[in-house]
Amino acid sequence: MAPFDDITELAIAALVERFYAKARRDPLIGPVFNAAISDWDEHLRKLCDFWSSVMLTTGRYKGNPMAAHVKQPIEPVFFDRWLTLWRETADELFAPAVAERFRDKAERIAESLKLALFFRPGTIRASA
Ligand code: HEM
Repeated sequence: MAPFDDITELAIAALVERFYAKARRDPLIGPVFNAAISDWDEHLRKLCDFWSSVMLTTGRYKGNPMAAHVKQPIEPVFFDRWLTLWRETADELFAPAVAERFRDKAERIAESLKLALFFRPGTIRASA
């Protein structure tokens, strides 16, 4: 039985904590986090604010995710791993309908981050 049926601050904190515990141990994407983040408490707090803003529209997050990722050594395939771990963690913690809402949101945000990071005008035409 998944422990959370509703999206609350407590549930978001549990998801964020569990997800980053996995992400930072992951052989593919873990090194990016471990190189960039020295204060994990601060990072987790920021990500709780982010997901609180996204899922509960609390407006607590004031940052710029695009700018934060541009300077990271992220490759397109890293997003697949990120999303796999996110889905897995959401499924562990939430009732299926709620887990799906977290999955959908993350997929959309990942898509726009990927566009911002990797889309270069001309590359589609050049390879066509
Ligand atoms: C390939 C996958 C990803 C990697 C390796 C990654 C890595 C990172 C790293 C290293 C930081 C810290 C940057 C810094 O402190 O300067 C960061 C920040 C952040 N990430 Fe990601 N990220 C990924 C995907 C995502 C996705 C899909 C989301 C949202 C659904 C997301 C949301 C955020 C947010 C909100 C921050 C905080 C930005 C700020 O400083 O305000 N990330 N990420």
